[in-house]
Amino acid sequence: MKIPPHGRAMETVLADLAAMGQDDLAVKGGALWAYVYDAGRPDLDELARRAHAMYLTPNGLDPTAFPSLLRLETDLAAMAAAHLGGDERVVGNFTSGGTESIILAVKAARDRAMARNPALGRPEMVLPATAHAAFFKAAHYLGLRVVSVPVDELSFKADVAAMARAITPATIMLVGSAVSYAHGVCDPIPELGQLALERDLWLHVDGCIGGFLLPYFRRLGQEATPFDFSVPGVSSISMDWHKYAYCPKGASIICYKNKDLRRHQIFACAQWPGYAVVNNAVQSSKSGGPMAAAWAVLNHIGDDGYLALADQTLRATRRIIEGARAIDGLEILGRPELCLVAIAAPRIDVFEIIDEMKTRGWSLQPQFRFASSPENIHLSVSAASLARVDELLADLADCARLAAEKGPPDWPALARGLAGLDAASLRPQDVAAMLSAAGLGGAGLPRRMAGVNGLLNVMTPALREVLLREYFNELFVQPPQSPGAPS
Ligand SMILES: Cc1ncc(COP(=O)(O)O)c(C=O)c1O
Repeated sequence: MKIPPHGRAMETVLADLAAMGQDDLAVKGGALWAYVYDAGRPDLDELARRAHAMYLTPNGLDPTAFPSLLRLETDLAAMAAAHLGGDERVVGNFTSGGTESIILAVKAARDRAMARNPALGRPEMVLPATAHAAFFKAAHYLGLRVVSVPVDELSFKADVAAMARAITPATIMLVGSAVSYAHGVCDPIPELGQLALERDLWLHVDGCIGGFLLPYFRRLGQEATPFDFSVPGVSSISMDWHKYAYCPKGASIICYKNKDLRRHQIFACAQWPGYAVVNNAVQSSKSGGPMAAAWAVLNHIGDDGYLALADQTLRATRRIIEGARAIDGLEILGRPELCLVAIAAPRIDVFEIIDEMKTRGWSLQPQFRFASSPENIHLSVSAASLARVDELLADLADCARLAAEKGPPDWPALARGLAGLDAASLRPQDVAAMLSAAGLGGAGLPRRMAGVNGLLNVMTPALREVLLREYFNELFVQPPQSPGAPS
């Protein structure tokens, strides 16, 4: 595509955009069990759209030019602080998502540690092996070393004693999840806080997915591990508005116990001839849209509204856990404390189940085997899921039976085929051959994924990374010109 020589009519352009979305997963209606969090309330879409449009153009680059954005951000931080058991000293900043919040927390911890000890070598971050990949990304971007510590093999919770043993003089921070994405379990944050205090370390609690909803689940009587600022030793918490606060994407917050910690997050640069740069986030110029939409949604739903949505979510989750356990061949990994459920099937190809479910309109996310966690089906349950639980369970039972009839997967054979491959020494042509063998070669996206997922599942994580990186490098290229498309 080229920029058209002459502008095209607004309606034509919008029609093209609408047509492009026709193969996308349906984001409403309860068929999608990852990526998107659906409250099942059409009023929220309407409100978010209007609020977003209202603040589309003001630039968060300079809060003195747009005081409204300063107000929106400090209001959101205050709401987060109160929600997360913080006192009046807690401060926070709005970010584009969980990953950005985590990158900022790691930067703040790193810069604080380096200010306190300029002789510190390469800083280290000790985390449970179930922590989100965003910590690896942060470490990669910021030059830290990740020390990933195996978790308890059955509960998938952080092993605090093992984390304590992994601390070295270069350790600057500990991480715990409330809750983990893969299994929906909460790490023992009070024990991690104690360890952080004893060893004078920063403790970041990743509440990206769980931080907003856990307090509501607790109020509804669900047992919940303490994880917030009331827990001694917690330094910072990330919490995403664009997950279970049902705000549009591009909305998270990073909170710190006090300004002394947050100071190290802020970037200022006066070493150039242009405008003064001072940034609270990774982004510099940023639209006020996501912030205004988040502010509007929070105010519109309100505490009672969120409690009601949480109640729907909790009921849906309990029924799914109970229902999936009753299906022959399926089991739940760990004991989910929130609404993220991992369903394993030790004798069935879970990726076949996912493909079968897709033919019936369901979109479920695969999770690959990792350490003691076998390959499984991930479900992020949301409030809109409640209406579809019975249907989902009936199809899941059917699809598990159909997949079982195909016999158990021959992953050991696949794994033998890959044995001896060293991720570091693969040449681009080897990777291209593997992509094509996996069904990921050529143009377009594969429709049935069981073969691809089966192969990725038996790869070492390092090999998986090489293959996926190469896949994206091939995927994001100029699309072929289709006849009739605007040129
Ligand atoms: C626990 C946890 N942390 C961090 C993230 C990253 O959030 P984002 O995708 O908004 O960058 C996620 C996303 O699901 C998550 O579940």
